[in-house]
Amino acid sequence: MKNAVKGDIIYASSPDKFEIFEDGYLLFENDKIIGVTNEINDDYEVIDCSKKLIIPGFVDIHIHAPQINNIGLGADKELMDWLEIYTFPEEAKYKDVEFAKKPYQKFVNKLLNNGTTSSVVFGSIYNESTEYLMDLMDKTGLRAYVGKVNMDRNSPDFYIEKTQDSAKNTVKFVEDTIGKYKNIKPIITPRFVPSCTSELMTELGEIAKKYDLKIQSHLSENRREIKFVNELHPECNCYVDVYDKYGLLRDNLNTVMAHCVWTDEHEMQMLKSKQVMVAHSPYSNGNISSGISPVSKLIKNGVDVGLASDVSGGHEIFMGKVIVMASILSNMRWVHIDDTYPQLKFEQLFYMATKGGGKFFGDVGSFEKGYKADFLVIDDDSLSDSNDRTVRERLQRFLYIGDDRNIQSVYVDGKKIK
Ligand code: GUN
Ligand code: FE
Repeated sequence: MKNAVKGDIIYASSPDKFEIFEDGYLLFENDKIIGVTNEINDDYEVIDCSKKLIIPGFVDIHIHAPQINNIGLGADKELMDWLEIYTFPEEAKYKDVEFAKKPYQKFVNKLLNNGTTSSVVFGSIYNESTEYLMDLMDKTGLRAYVGKVNMDRNSPDFYIEKTQDSAKNTVKFVEDTIGKYKNIKPIITPRFVPSCTSELMTELGEIAKKYDLKIQSHLSENRREIKFVNELHPECNCYVDVYDKYGLLRDNLNTVMAHCVWTDEHEMQMLKSKQVMVAHSPYSNGNISSGISPVSKLIKNGVDVGLASDVSGGHEIFMGKVIVMASILSNMRWVHIDDTYPQLKFEQLFYMATKGGGKFFGDVGSFEKGYKADFLVIDDDSLSDSNDRTVRERLQRFLYIGDDRNIQSVYVDGKKIK
């Protein structure tokens, strides 16, 4: 049976243009989009969402599940202190899968309620609770890459692995979860260079290659971190060269690197030539004093950039708010730092939070033919005023002042999951 959702449809097929169908129909069959139209025939079973906005599900390409209890805490610290004081002690609790159940349920509910249908997720160093999280996300019907984190140096003794255990447990994690779920997949997850030895990085690169897996990590986030990486690896020219040397930059949109606040020309060329996706995390970069990422410059130089909440470095899981903060930082960068690259436009930002980040998953984040039927029904009536507003304005207002209460339904693969 073919299905159609009737409503005010808006999506970004490219970074500079919205496609808008007021009072239109989003057509899909099973898990795939057929297209969008203003007229349909009798072949379709229609779900009537007239006057509501229909938009693609959000894509969050970098988030830490075991940091969910810390949301809203610790923004008075810088990255390295924040990790030590807030983050590692909290993540260590996930050794106990019984402990993990409640916060992981909360994490999954928050993604669902906020319309984040696709995400790229850091778990903890523990296999059992990470696999529990994957089961939960699968049962909920979300789409995600989820990683068991690797850490074998410069970490507290209560939250560290031996190099060989880390590699062995990663292979077990991959073999346990690869092909187990329709939409939840394992991803190789070295935390960042400071917490992974060259030996471990090399092994993880080989595992990624052997099992054809994607990779996620952090890159050039904070000045103290970068200085530390340079001290740890005198054999490399810079941060990105360390990942490259040890085989962790899998090309063709198979690697996502969070932050890239301090990326220079060389690093930018590497990211571009390897087609590594950057996860721009504006709230996190502001909270833990990392800096203002040169997002427009990255994009103009051909680097793929998606948007990320980076909970709990970032305290906002709703991608609407993440779009807003990315816009504010971009405006401030243009005013104060570098006016040679223009501010990020609204179309561009919405694209990054949908089709742009969705590239990491394949055909996700748009309503073009063949894309995954992942979409949200937004009731923005409570946000209206006494003027007539265009569909574009209504979307903008939802992102700026709306929240999960406006998200009436969530669909993944054409199935209603909320
Ligand atoms: N670098 C290494 N680990 C982390 C983390 O958990 N959050 C952020 N923002 N940066 C990191
Ligand atoms: Fe992060």
